[in-house]
Amino acid sequence: MSQGSTMPPGPRGDWLLGNAEDLKKDPLKYLLLWHKQHGDFVKLRIGHLNMVLVCNPDLIHEVLVTKASSFSKDVAIKNNPEFFGEGLLRSEGEFWKRQRKLAAPSFSPKRLEEYASTMIEEVSEMLKGWQDGELVDIQIEMMRLTLAIASKTLFDADVKEHGVAFEEALADAQKYLGERLEDLIILLLPQWVPFPTNVHLHDAIEKCNKVVYKLIQERRGKTEGRHDLLSSLIDARDEDGSQMSDKQIRDEVFTLFFAGHETTALTLTWTLHLISKNPEVEAKLLDELQSVLQDRPIEANDFHRLNYTRKVIFESMRLRPPVWAIAREAVEDCFIGKYDVPKGVSIMISQWVNNQDERWFSNAQKFDPDRWTAEFHENLPKFAYFPFGGGPRTCIGNNFALLEAVLLLAAIMREYHLDTEPEQNIVLQPAATLRPKNGIKMSLHKR
Ligand code: HEM
Repeated sequence: MSQGSTMPPGPRGDWLLGNAEDLKKDPLKYLLLWHKQHGDFVKLRIGHLNMVLVCNPDLIHEVLVTKASSFSKDVAIKNNPEFFGEGLLRSEGEFWKRQRKLAAPSFSPKRLEEYASTMIEEVSEMLKGWQDGELVDIQIEMMRLTLAIASKTLFDADVKEHGVAFEEALADAQKYLGERLEDLIILLLPQWVPFPTNVHLHDAIEKCNKVVYKLIQERRGKTEGRHDLLSSLIDARDEDGSQMSDKQIRDEVFTLFFAGHETTALTLTWTLHLISKNPEVEAKLLDELQSVLQDRPIEANDFHRLNYTRKVIFESMRLRPPVWAIAREAVEDCFIGKYDVPKGVSIMISQWVNNQDERWFSNAQKFDPDRWTAEFHENLPKFAYFPFGGGPRTCIGNNFALLEAVLLLAAIMREYHLDTEPEQNIVLQPAATLRPKNGIKMSLHKR
């Protein structure tokens, strides 16, 4: 090969573990630091695994779009077959393509419009249960809300019927998956190695599976007239007439429960917290809600009318990207920009790093929804801001998530003012997603 230059050096690490310790200790800090010290293409090593942090938008475009076929998903996804199975996040090649095509109609604009009414109903239910003056963990509230929305919209099911057991098991599975991803040593070993994290993860997945398999069995034979994703997956037939196994349907359902609710819940959690710290943003938001909605109920089309609310969501996802990094593995020797990337090298792309780059976002630490003018969008390089990834593996639920985040935020803010409890330490936890480590306690004040 060698159409390019060999990689430039990166930060020196331990002779054995490379940069693993720093990445485990504080990835948010070290990725920013290494980008600052070494530029847009930073060579890293985790034990025997060679890795490159790529920060330049044009190079990211190459990895995710123009040279996407030279890359597969990375070790973090590959080494978790029990969690992701062969669902959309983890499957590859022709199989992935077929599954993605099957799922696509469930995310069409017409379907999204139908989902909007469920989103509005569910948030109203939640608000009815809130009490003036109450103190809540807003992360738990948002998780519950988005899980109920995902199960009704995508699966036409009510997970609440299965009690809190499913909710808790899914939260546990996410927690232990997060722990597994945070510990690079555990991550690089197969999941059957009996570390406590792996054992807990297995147990939590088993509990979730019970509910999901029950959901599938109850639905078989009762799909007529239903348009939800679960029914479409059950009805799908190959050219030879064969249908998907329960295991494959489980993998897709589980992936969508996982990918489809926590990310949006975190977006709302961080947004509500950031608003509580920026009263001028709250005032502008309220102005917009009053002038657009007046006293009538919210409807799907308000998504397009609530321009400032959308900006608030964009800006919140910039400062607190729910997915803070994605990765790929080179399946063949290739070159990115002018650099040789040999087969087997992992590429890391971090929304966290890019979103704080002063080349694209001046005064990057400021929560400033007003920066998202049409002109700003237009001038921003495509892969300077990519909360939903990009290219063929771009998030299938991006429009679902934006619609949900905007409608739910509007519904909550028009009824309640929220204050972040002062006596708490809000710590960023970069697990599979970017979470507040101990949740965020907020008090609710009815307007
Ligand atoms: C704010 C909310 C969300 C964020 C930030 C987000 C982010 C992402 C990102 C960055 C990817 C690409 C991963 C990669 O390239 O390796 C992705 C993929 C995916 N997301 Fe989302 N997502 C969100 C909401 C949703 C929702 C609501 C759903 C479903 C209802 C969903 C389902 C998926 C699926 C199935 C994939 C895999 C797609 C494929 O590879 O074909 N996501 N998401």
